[in-house]
Amino acid sequence: MKGIVFTEFLEMVESEFGLETVDAIIEASDLPSDGIYTSVGTYEFNEMVTLLTNLNKIVDKPIEDLLYAFGLYLFSSLGKAHPEVIQSYNSPIGLLYSIEDHIHVHVQKLYPDAELPTFKILEKTDTSISMVYSSSRGLYRLAHGLIEKCFEHFNASAQVSFEVLKEDGTEVRFDVVQSA
Ligand code: HEM
Repeated sequence: MKGIVFTEFLEMVESEFGLETVDAIIEASDLPSDGIYTSVGTYEFNEMVTLLTNLNKIVDKPIEDLLYAFGLYLFSSLGKAHPEVIQSYNSPIGLLYSIEDHIHVHVQKLYPDAELPTFKILEKTDTSISMVYSSSRGLYRLAHGLIEKCFEHFNASAQVSFEVLKEDGTEVRFDVVQSA
């Protein structure tokens, strides 16, 4: 998993729960990286699982909710780090439609060792999109937060529902309908 995900995760933890919590989860985690990340480095996905598990214990919030909150935070971080990647889109549905074929393709060029999910589009209209998230990492609540924030980014809003197709969260269908 790319370092930018770790650096932004720790920033989110700091802004929501304070620097003491950042220190506490790193101390509790016994990580190969010692909790020191650079945005272009690559680290074991397991480190993220450990950090999330310890955050869940310390702040007593479900991991799913923490991932969702992180998704909201991460969309803005990615947009700031790589404005050129999202600049060409003028609608949230247009952006979501392009994750698989454009955005993450570009991301893979920027970070050749990025491990990205896939999004299979099932249906799309001007105001709705249905797609299936697939990833061995099962971070669909992170995707959920990213999708919600994408609408906010365009000063829009949406009803986002999801159906877990595989129990371990590695395949999840999203149905997204833009609000008037
Ligand atoms: C990783 C979804 C837009 C860059 C991920 C992951 C998810 C995701 C769920 C976690 C990995 C996994 O689940 O296997 C989305 C969604 C987006 C979006 C739903 C739009 C709403 C973007 C944009 C950028 C970006 C705009 C860059 C400007 C990345 C990067 C990673 C990532 C760098 C980390 C890859 C790694 O750790 O190896 N994306 N993404 N994504 N995405 Fe996206």
